[in-house]
Amino acid sequence: MKTTRRDALKTFAATAATIAVAKTAFGGDAPAAPRGVPPGKHEAVPLPFDAKKLTGISEKLITSHWANNYGGTVKNLNLVEDQLATAGKDTPGFVVSGLKDRELGYTNSLILHEHYFGNLGGDGKASGDVQKAIGDAFGGFPRWEEMFLATGKSLGGGSGWTVLDFNFHTGDLRTYWSGNHTQAVAFAAPLLVLDMYEHAYQMDYGAAAAKYVDAFMQNVNWDEVNRRYARALAASKALRG
Ligand SMILES: [Fe+2]
Repeated sequence: MKTTRRDALKTFAATAATIAVAKTAFGGDAPAAPRGVPPGKHEAVPLPFDAKKLTGISEKLITSHWANNYGGTVKNLNLVEDQLATAGKDTPGFVVSGLKDRELGYTNSLILHEHYFGNLGGDGKASGDVQKAIGDAFGGFPRWEEMFLATGKSLGGGSGWTVLDFNFHTGDLRTYWSGNHTQAVAFAAPLLVLDMYEHAYQMDYGAAAAKYVDAFMQNVNWDEVNRRYARALAASKALRG
């Protein structure tokens, strides 16, 4: 099929739009998670902040988390996608189901980790439209914060995530609990992501998960949460026509 100049311009515009979204997807001016990555070609996105400057979360912990846990996820997702590329109609069902199960887990782990690191590096002081929206949705910002903290701390000693989501199905903000990478609400945009796997805090806090949750809140980059909220709000309006 012949490619016209109009087609070429459309492709260029779509690519530029994708890059523009990607630039803000992982911590504002920070290196962005690329979009449209071919299977098996994911690359780790660098930390979008100075690892030495977090409050109450050590450089050793955050760089280990990034390199070993997030880095392992990127590596394993690539391996699973490479394996799936060689699977076909003659592949035993238990092999396909195992690979597809791992594909979903590693994909969600990659997404959640990139959002988690992307919403760190700030001063923890809530601000902007998202602070107001949270207050409106939860009966006041302090009430939301009380339950966000309680949800995170309830995962202490186990594993999982606590996520403030923009639920596209209802158009509301909600805080969700997840015991693993695959318990995610089906149709939502993560605004604030808290990693509650033990690897996120054990090195600094041992079993004292609650102290880590408090430290996390002191490092939230609310500018990034506001950017995510603005994009989710626009997407929600577009989805509702
Ligand atoms: Fe993690």
